[in-house]
Amino acid sequence: MADETSIFIGASRKPDDSYQRAEELLLRYGNRHGLVTGATGTGKTVSLQVLAEGFSNAGVPVFCADIKGDLSGISMMGEAKDFLVKRAEQVKLDPYRFQEFPVIFWDLFGEQGHPIRATISEMGPLLLSRLMNLTEAQEGVMNIAFRIADEEGLLLLDLKDLQALLANIAERADELSARYGNVTKPSVGAIQRTLLVLESQGAANFFGEPALRIADIMRTTRDGRGAISVLAADKLMMNPRLYATFLLWLMSELFEELPEVGDLDQPKLVFFFDEAHLLFEDAPKVLIDRVEQVVRLIRSKGVGVYFVTQNPLDIPEKVLAQLGNRVQHALRAYTPREQQAVRTAAETFRPNPDFDCATAITQLATGEALVSMLEDKGVPAMVQRTLIRPPSSRLGPITPDERRKIVAESPVAGQYDQVVDRESAFEMLQKKAKEAQDAEAQAQQQNRGGSRWTIPGFDDVLGTGNRRSSNRQTVAEAAIKSVVRSVGSSVGRAIVRGILGSLARGR
Ligand SMILES: Nc1ncnc2c1ncn2[C@@H]1O[C@H](COP(=O)(O)OP(=O)(O)OP(=O)(O)O)[C@@H](O)[C@H]1O
Ligand SMILES: [Mg+2]
Repeated sequence: MADETSIFIGASRKPDDSYQRAEELLLRYGNRHGLVTGATGTGKTVSLQVLAEGFSNAGVPVFCADIKGDLSGISMMGEAKDFLVKRAEQVKLDPYRFQEFPVIFWDLFGEQGHPIRATISEMGPLLLSRLMNLTEAQEGVMNIAFRIADEEGLLLLDLKDLQALLANIAERADELSARYGNVTKPSVGAIQRTLLVLESQGAANFFGEPALRIADIMRTTRDGRGAISVLAADKLMMNPRLYATFLLWLMSELFEELPEVGDLDQPKLVFFFDEAHLLFEDAPKVLIDRVEQVVRLIRSKGVGVYFVTQNPLDIPEKVLAQLGNRVQHALRAYTPREQQAVRTAAETFRPNPDFDCATAITQLATGEALVSMLEDKGVPAMVQRTLIRPPSSRLGPITPDERRKIVAESPVAGQYDQVVDRESAFEMLQKKAKEAQDAEAQAQQQNRGGSRWTIPGFDDVLGTGNRRSSNRQTVAEAAIKSVVRSVGSSVGRAIVRGILGSLARGR
């Protein structure tokens, strides 16, 4: 079993395939990030499960996405199946104990776990633009929209708020262009349409309040184990951009909210990023650069990020260079691209004279991997051909009933279930529009007392048109200014955005 300073991962094998020694991840280098790679069905999820178990037992909370539902078994006691027991013997895991882990299930759609939400404001323009796949011009408008919201104290909580703000911006396009640069009605219109698409894909569930409190994914149990937050991602994967944006947002939230801690005995949180290729796939360079920056800096906040993906080439080089703890499962090497991936993967390891890395990668059995963890002084250990230990929790998915029970008994039960719709941009803009209308009606009343000719029933069509719009403009402006004074001073000024554009608090 793992002692208090390391996680037991498995046993490396000698060239004659006999037992060599225990392979372990040192907890004090747990924040030096990691990488789990391998082709389909080679054992990535089980390796992730084994790592997550180890962190939890050490008291480190874990956040991970469950792409296929098979990671949910980590919440249940494992069973002594023959092949598991045999493997436990092979890796000298003695005694092989079964355990269930403290799991909190989350789900952006609120179906397979507690709903997880963020506000539009927290997400920020950079990630939202990525989520909506906006063009550069549209992203420019999105930035302006956020600036206006910040300056005018308009709270952006849900999609409705953003829609209302965009409608308002379209109305004031000329005025705003003069102040901020190009805000064209067509680009605002295009963003509005993309928002509708997003809404139809179910993203409306995700934006709003109560927003996720980071503290809720950093819980530990009374017996000192770290909670394992498992995000149901099967449905989410149908919208890969939402999946990637959400995880990026979460990572940037962690980064912005957690204090600097330097190097600790063990991480404060470990974050597994499954299907990590989605993070970088056709992402603009700015975003990749920022992600690289966050990954580099989040280390000193005590957060370890572990990327899980099929192919190490999926990860940009600069990010790859920061992933210290590596588990490389088998790769196929049929196509030139696959052969390239094998070579790249092999080259990233500190070679072992006992075997050829590239050859070994193509020969590894299921649940076997090339492992290199950071050892003393944070130097990567010589790569070892390693049989990964069997998990202590259940292998494979849990039943819907089991899930329901865990969700009902979770420490956050009831906290996120009800949407709270407090006054925000949508309501504020609506109120302002109403005020403007009332003021205008009043002005019309006064006009009517004058000597102007009217035709009964045609009041609005004749004569009042121009006046109406100019009137609305000024009244609306006045209303906005008053909102800025009341709300803006508290909200507007406090807004500082972090590296990935989400809110930076406590700075
Ligand atoms: N360490 C292990 N101990 C025992 N069995 C294992 C181990 N690793 C993998 N296996 C066996 O191999 C199967 C496939 O592993 P796993 O689901 O982790 O593959 P994967 O790489 O995540 O595949 P995919 O890419 O399709 O998600 C497991 O269901 C299990 O039966
Ligand atoms: Mg898997």
